[in-house]
Amino acid sequence: MEGGAELLFYVNGRKVIEKNVDPETMLLPYLRKKLRLTGTKYGCGGGGCGACTVMISRYNPITKKIRHYPANACLTPICSLYGAAITTVEGIGSTKTRIHPVQERIAKCHGTQCGFCTPGMVMSMYTLLRNHSEPTLSQLNDALGGNLCRCTGYRPIIDACKTFCKTSGCCQSKENGVCCLDQGINGLPEFEEGNETSLKLFSEEEFLPLDPTQELIFPPELMTMAEKKTQKTRIFGSDRMTWISPVTLKELLEAKVKYPQAPVVMGNTSVGPDMKFKGIFHPVIISPDRIEELSVVNYTDNGLTIGAALSLAEMKDILANVTRKLPEEKTQMYHALLKHLGTLAGPQIRNMASLGGHIVSRHPDSDLNPLLAVGNCTLNLLSKEGKRQIPLNEQFLRKCPSADLKPEEILISVNIPYSKKWEFVSAFRQAQRQQNALAIVNSGMRVCFGKGDGIIRELSIAYGGVGPTTILAKNSCQKLIGRPWNEEMLDAACRLILDEVSLPGSAPGGKVEFKRTLIISFLFKFYLEVSQILKEMDPVHYPSLASKYESALEDLRSRHYWSTLKYQNADLKQLPQDPIGHPIMHLSGIKHATGEAIYCDDMPVVDRELFLTFVTSSRARAKIVSIDLSEALSLPGVVDILTGEHLPGITTNFGFLTDTEQLLSTDEVSCVGQLICAVIADSEVQAKRAAQRVKIVYRDLEPLILTIEEAIQNKSFFEPERKLECGNVDEAFKMVDQILEGEIHMGGQEHFYMETQSMLVVPKGEDQEIDVYVSTQFPKYIQDITAAVLKVSANKVMCHVKRVGGAFGGKVTKTGVLAAITAFAANKHGRPVRCILERGEDILITGGRHPYLGKYKVGFMNDGRILALNMEHYNNAGAFLDESLFVRTVNMYKEIDQTPYKQEINAKNLIQCWKECMATSSYTLRKAAVEKFNSENYWKKKGLAMVPLKFPVGVGSVAAGQAAALVHIYLDGSVLVTHGGIEMGQGVHTKMIQVVSRELRMPLSSIHLRGTSTETIPNTNPSGGSVVADLNGLAVKDACQTLLKRLEPIISKNPRGTWKDWAQAAFNESISLSATGYFRGYESNINWETGEGHPFEYFVYGAACSEVEIDCLTGAHKNIRTDIVMDVGYSINPALDIGQIEGAFIQGMGLYTIEELNYSPQGVLYTRGPNQYKIPAICDIPMELHISLLPPSENSNTLYSSKGLGESGIFLGCSVFFAIHDAISAARQERGLPGPLRLNSPLTPEKIRMACEDKFTKMIPRDEPGSYVPWSIPI
Ligand SMILES: Cc1cc2nc3c(=O)[nH]c(=O)nc-3n(C[C@H](O)[C@H](O)[C@H](O)COP(=O)(O)OP(=O)(O)OC[C@H]3O[C@@H](n4cnc5c(N)ncnc54)[C@H](O)[C@@H]3O)c2cc1C
Ligand code: FES
Ligand code: FES
Repeated sequence: MEGGAELLFYVNGRKVIEKNVDPETMLLPYLRKKLRLTGTKYGCGGGGCGACTVMISRYNPITKKIRHYPANACLTPICSLYGAAITTVEGIGSTKTRIHPVQERIAKCHGTQCGFCTPGMVMSMYTLLRNHSEPTLSQLNDALGGNLCRCTGYRPIIDACKTFCKTSGCCQSKENGVCCLDQGINGLPEFEEGNETSLKLFSEEEFLPLDPTQELIFPPELMTMAEKKTQKTRIFGSDRMTWISPVTLKELLEAKVKYPQAPVVMGNTSVGPDMKFKGIFHPVIISPDRIEELSVVNYTDNGLTIGAALSLAEMKDILANVTRKLPEEKTQMYHALLKHLGTLAGPQIRNMASLGGHIVSRHPDSDLNPLLAVGNCTLNLLSKEGKRQIPLNEQFLRKCPSADLKPEEILISVNIPYSKKWEFVSAFRQAQRQQNALAIVNSGMRVCFGKGDGIIRELSIAYGGVGPTTILAKNSCQKLIGRPWNEEMLDAACRLILDEVSLPGSAPGGKVEFKRTLIISFLFKFYLEVSQILKEMDPVHYPSLASKYESALEDLRSRHYWSTLKYQNADLKQLPQDPIGHPIMHLSGIKHATGEAIYCDDMPVVDRELFLTFVTSSRARAKIVSIDLSEALSLPGVVDILTGEHLPGITTNFGFLTDTEQLLSTDEVSCVGQLICAVIADSEVQAKRAAQRVKIVYRDLEPLILTIEEAIQNKSFFEPERKLECGNVDEAFKMVDQILEGEIHMGGQEHFYMETQSMLVVPKGEDQEIDVYVSTQFPKYIQDITAAVLKVSANKVMCHVKRVGGAFGGKVTKTGVLAAITAFAANKHGRPVRCILERGEDILITGGRHPYLGKYKVGFMNDGRILALNMEHYNNAGAFLDESLFVRTVNMYKEIDQTPYKQEINAKNLIQCWKECMATSSYTLRKAAVEKFNSENYWKKKGLAMVPLKFPVGVGSVAAGQAAALVHIYLDGSVLVTHGGIEMGQGVHTKMIQVVSRELRMPLSSIHLRGTSTETIPNTNPSGGSVVADLNGLAVKDACQTLLKRLEPIISKNPRGTWKDWAQAAFNESISLSATGYFRGYESNINWETGEGHPFEYFVYGAACSEVEIDCLTGAHKNIRTDIVMDVGYSINPALDIGQIEGAFIQGMGLYTIEELNYSPQGVLYTRGPNQYKIPAICDIPMELHISLLPPSENSNTLYSSKGLGESGIFLGCSVFFAIHDAISAARQERGLPGPLRLNSPLTPEKIRMACEDKFTKMIPRDEPGSYVPWSIPI
């Protein structure tokens, strides 16, 4: 073995040689910090979001082929990259050279908003195109399955990528032989296009063609290196870890003898997350490099042998190939494996993860192990002692020493036998999200009848997700041998298996009753699947399935997506160069796509920079008994640790903080994640290591109030309590025919902006000046709180925001606290300090959209008129008061012509949206079609629901709506504009440039906007509440008009002149070329005493109609179609406005369906990253999406009659909730369970399944409440 090896790989065509490589370094920080390639982003660090996607290319000297695959840089150890070529977003194109067609199209099709996910999306698409230059739509959807976007709702990204597909125009659905272009949507009348509409937000004609010959070639040096077989084991080492890469089997076995406890790291997708998130440390790692024997594919008489080192993606290709060649009766197992390989993780993980790593890591929710275990697979092992075969059986999965690999053994390959005639294998899984989500329960089932008599000869059933390992129902299967395949057998099987695979009420992961139900629901599906095949094979002897049962067979899966957009054309009377009303691309779109857009953590390291990390409370309510910093302080690189004793409490009232807020807790904590210490060290790694060594002793306090019900019981409320009254409700209740009372619970939501909280504070070294670069929605607040903490005046603190990688309300208050502490550290040490939260810390520390409990009592007449309504809303506002109390309370009330606070509204456009939505969605026809479908399908139900939207826009007071702008004209005729709004993806900077362009009648290219800073615009209001463009736009317009007025005499003297001429002339005449603009805010007031007022300037109206299909047996749902009609007034930029509507709609859909926060009974949040908390992915969006904007309407006080749209679409997401509700109601009706149905939000697979009560939900054992401690509680 050779020690101290050099690591050699290529990045973007350039050779990289690392002499002192630290094996703990992952590719992501290496690219970002060492190579300064910051286009690749950090979103989660655990393989779950795709923001860090790069393309890895490797040359195989045996096949002479180059394999290009997408990979998550956050989980790729750099030591594993010897001989590989890495391509990052910077490597495929840039504005300085030439942009790549993928980058161009994603930007021009408006597929970027905040842009933080964009480089990852680009790289996934680019890799697909390197492998398939004209991909199919299925390949496209699969390729993007591992990339999350929180802003766009995915539609524009798909549209951009579709332009590379052979056929891109239509839905491509050939189900029932029809597609959208043939017969209209779903065979129903065509989506009507009005005369005044424009249908494309981009023009394909201007796109660069894709030219595969222009791509970077694989470095010839790496090919030569791979061909030479002279390499020896490479060893890389640091003080803590040694990385051994054997290149021959012999060396691998020797290394394993020497270090039997060292893991054999292949894809690092299991070892990596364990090291990162569970703190498991391995001093030695063995990572075989291209050992041929581990990559074999052998076809034997009995089956297939697949090498342990092959990736799951390669395995998928191999199995797909085999199933194409061999008869179906031999490939039952392969088909089942393929089904799971299609949904297991995303393409990045599937390309990194190896079959061997998957099997040996034995995750309890592994998708493949239950199948391999029922399929009589065997594992081929090798050690220096020789070969051995062991079965992949229950003992192996339980890690029984007698059935496991010995420490010095290696898994070489896996034998997967062919199936026989009369043998059937099926795979089942249900997850919170259909793709890229670990299964809640999965299963592999195999039955063998020996011959066509239908008598069970062999039966194997295994489940994942129901225990600490994969569980086989061995005894039950044994007892069923010899029984005929009929309903009595099924009934007995369900009872036996429920008994054998028993889950305690407190089982980890929760959802216990759902899991029990899935166990037998899957069995029922298997029973039906096999029965149907038996019938097909021998129609004489086997009965047909009852037709109502057939609907249980197919899994719900969205395949192709298509959309139509209908928006307003720009006003014909406009000047030709006036960009208002045109779908102008996001100002930073191209830079998002090339990775050149700079976010806070992309800023280069400043000289002597330090890193700050937090230690937070692990208790929900406790006294802090002691904090011991000694061990942490003694670690290398640690500069300081701040506690509450160093940091004064803030007593100034900033509107959000309560009277005195302790920034770091010293005595008591009242939530998990509360900040206690800030560790400052030379590097991030050192700060994190030290933070783990801070020892805090707590004494728990009572009572622990976590749920809304507990808060009501303990009268634990934040003041003031708000009340709105309209009419005499008591009298009205006396008059009504009927009264209905109930309550509804709505879960909270994590903001899940893709860029985590980030800040860099730089002390300037003189006059106590300090610069704060931060990702925030509210720079003024950062400035104020920092100044207060540093005890300096605000004019010494400047806060700068270039752009924000998504915020959604989550970068206001907490960001201020984090920035103030970081600034304190920077000031104390006179050195720059950076603080970037990891995803898990971010979710834990920042909180999110609050859970609600609504109690209602509604009185109505028999004709349906509601006369009385009494509603109480309780909001679980967490441990501390924040900004949402007022906003949320007011938002809840809805009425048609007068609001409960007696504000007059004109509902004309609401009614128009409603009518248009009814028409465009063909509601009546489709309702009938849904009912017909439901009458014919017992186990699948469709639901259709339409909701209206009246969304108030305003900020509650005049002062909170004031905005300012600054416009400079330079002597060359160029313009620099600044305003107080923050660019967080909504495109406000783009709109502001459009405003300047219209007002000053100059081309967009002459106008520039650098970012937002308290240096240029003081006293800004927070950017939020959908009004950022409204308010700042009016200020920008004001500034431009001031300038025009000043320059009017000069322009009229030389009307044919250019801006350069006019600017020079103005300068010569000593006329100022700089102006501020101001807007004082919309009239706004509310009197909580009288319950009257005018808190909102206007309302956004809309309507959405959604159709879904649910699987009553698994709780899965598919979003079939959504139609949205919105009144946006006059759209300043239809592309951005549609982007806001659909992005918010998808986020709302997540809120109401799959996004579920789980808390332990002690108040610890479990769902701290994309692997536990599921935001919508590409597989969740409606297969058909139709968005139309009402024709322009006057909106007198707003900017060019436009309306702010940021948040309103979220509410429309509840159309999906009600559509699911409708489908569940249909199922319950059919099962004889009528009556009002109360369902809480989110409507997860668990809630859907358990609401579709049937014989299976009746069969499962139920636990008495209070007889066990549940894994999680509803907060
Ligand atoms: C974001 C994400 C999503 C995921 N989603 C899913 C999902 O939906 N469904 C699912 O089933 N799984 C999922 N997984 C788990 C994934 O399938 C496994 O992590 C992966 O298969 C492990 O393979 P690996 O090559 O990366 O293993 P590594 O992490 O490299 O190694 C894992 C273990 O296997 C051992 N090992 C590896 N190869 C050998 C060998 N040849 N001989 C002996 N021991 C060996 C190592 O010693 C180590 O202990 C997900 C993982 C991530 C990170
Ligand atoms: S940062 Fe790598 S997948 Fe999220
Ligand atoms: S644009 Fe995708 S996360 Fe913001």
